Amino acid sequence: MIPESFKQDLLNRVDIVDVVSRYVKLKKGGANFTGLCPFHSEKSPSFTVSPAKQFYHCFGCGAHGNAIGFLMSYAGLGYVDAVKDLAASAGMQMPEFRPASPQESARRERETDLYALMERALEFYRAELKKSPRAIEYLKGRGLTGEVAARFRIGYVPDDWQALRGAFPEYENKALVECGLVIENEGKRYDRFRDRVMFPILSVRGVPIGFGGRVLGAGEPKYLNSPETPLFEKGREVYGLVQARDAIRASGRALVVEGYMDVVALAQYGVGYAVATLGTATTAVHVTKLLRLADELVFCFDGDAAGRKAAWRALEVSLPLAPDHKPIRFLFLPEGDDPDSYVRAHGKEAFERLVREAQTLSEFLLGELRAAADLASPEGRSRFLSAAKPYLRQIAAAALRLQVVKEVAVLAGVSQDEAEQILELRPARPYTRPAPAKLQPSRQFALEERLLALVFAKPSLALEVDPGLLDPSLDESKALAEIVAALNRTERPDEVSDGMLIELLGESAHRELLARAQATLWMSLKLSPEEALGEFRDTLSKLGTRVPAEEKALRAKILKKSATAEEERIFQERYMPKGP
Ligand code: UTP
Ligand code: MN
Repeated sequence: MIPESFKQDLLNRVDIVDVVSRYVKLKKGGANFTGLCPFHSEKSPSFTVSPAKQFYHCFGCGAHGNAIGFLMSYAGLGYVDAVKDLAASAGMQMPEFRPASPQESARRERETDLYALMERALEFYRAELKKSPRAIEYLKGRGLTGEVAARFRIGYVPDDWQALRGAFPEYENKALVECGLVIENEGKRYDRFRDRVMFPILSVRGVPIGFGGRVLGAGEPKYLNSPETPLFEKGREVYGLVQARDAIRASGRALVVEGYMDVVALAQYGVGYAVATLGTATTAVHVTKLLRLADELVFCFDGDAAGRKAAWRALEVSLPLAPDHKPIRFLFLPEGDDPDSYVRAHGKEAFERLVREAQTLSEFLLGELRAAADLASPEGRSRFLSAAKPYLRQIAAAALRLQVVKEVAVLAGVSQDEAEQILELRPARPYTRPAPAKLQPSRQFALEERLLALVFAKPSLALEVDPGLLDPSLDESKALAEIVAALNRTERPDEVSDGMLIELLGESAHRELLARAQATLWMSLKLSPEEALGEFRDTLSKLGTRVPAEEKALRAKILKKSATAEEERIFQERYMPKGP
């Protein structure tokens, strides 16, 4: 539960044009901005963003919403994550969701403590590095400059079972165990990391949430990582993001490598846009996070079998997330090299050439699939088709999928239609526009329909509508009733804006109808707020004098003397003026 007042504040502060422009190229046209719709493929722009009204609407596919809705649909974020993302971009602090229970306050305090502990440990490790010629020699031996070591806040932990006593006199503090720095075993406590070079893993806010510790020479494990803790979830974090963020924005590219040292070495050589997964497989969260920052995502793996396997896993995760307009590519380094060794041996230019020439997602996918089948025989070609099927069905981006289908068809020696049938994809009809959301000017609006659109001029107007006058069989009437209910749930219905209204309604059964009504008001009727208000009052009075269809029908029957006794009774009861 995010407080309504916060959402309202947030929507007032962000500009949907900024939010959408992060992902879609927009052009100003009159009062609105237009661009190619990111939710369906199209050649001429029918995607419209209204800065005045703070919503987007696609006249082609009907996609519609406010800034929060855009992030949800576009970046695949959950509601809370979308709000968080927006809040962060507007520099707003997310509020406490609800009055915290004592246990929750205690937990939050503990978490704050944990961050503070991690920060203290980090500073301790850095100080220890300065005191350890052996560790300094090791890093120098690996070619690191002091500058880059400082930038990544690299440290060292001495060879001591309780080295952290140097930073925490209260070594018994349970929180040290909770944040994974200290291990408790049969009543004994000792440091998790001993005699290791320490790579801090920072959250997007730049606070340490975990560490990776490398042995100085040979030894097992080569890297020891923090366990999952209340602060640290490996599947959600990447190493080096804070340091890489600006370079990712500037270059438009994010490069995902495998190791801590790879990120650091690349940064030292001027390739600043690299991050690493943390000894785990690539997750959907990783991909989504990076695609939000970058226009292009490049995965870089070692050229060996393990690297190809890890790459395949990254490909599987990426298929449903790959957008049409942001390429995802795969770079395989020559066997025996990793980014660290490669960039040191060949330099930035050579490395970036490899990055630019990296295989596209579809090249990698089709390359692997065709390598597993003998395309010279009918059996091999059909095997190829059936192997391709689950992967193609995973691709969500329409244009990308279409391109891949075409290639698969060529390789398998079938037509595109045949391929689509066998792969059980939707038939390859050219994209046809659904009926435009615009209402035809010639058409008579039902009064309810008109009211619903006009209410978006000022949502609290809905409270003036007498529900008894509405035709209960119309969806518009039900939607109006929903609006009234939603307004009644808020403290200050008068202050609810039309963008906010959609938020208040949440998962409405009439979402589309409401979205269309909002678009109708601002984009088809094109009324100013004052005009809309006048129209609203007009419509309301027409509604008051509208002769119900039932009354009309009954009256006609009675005049023609064809009404039954029951109908006459209803007419009397409902439509004859009652005496005093
Ligand atoms: P690599 O074995 O490829 O190491 O592991 P590296 O990055 O090249 O390290 P250097 O150059 O030998 O120092 C890649 C990544 O896999 C994780 C770490 O995140 C590491 O950076 N890993 C590896 C572990 O978590 N534990 C290990 O024992 C080894
Ligand atoms: Mn390495």
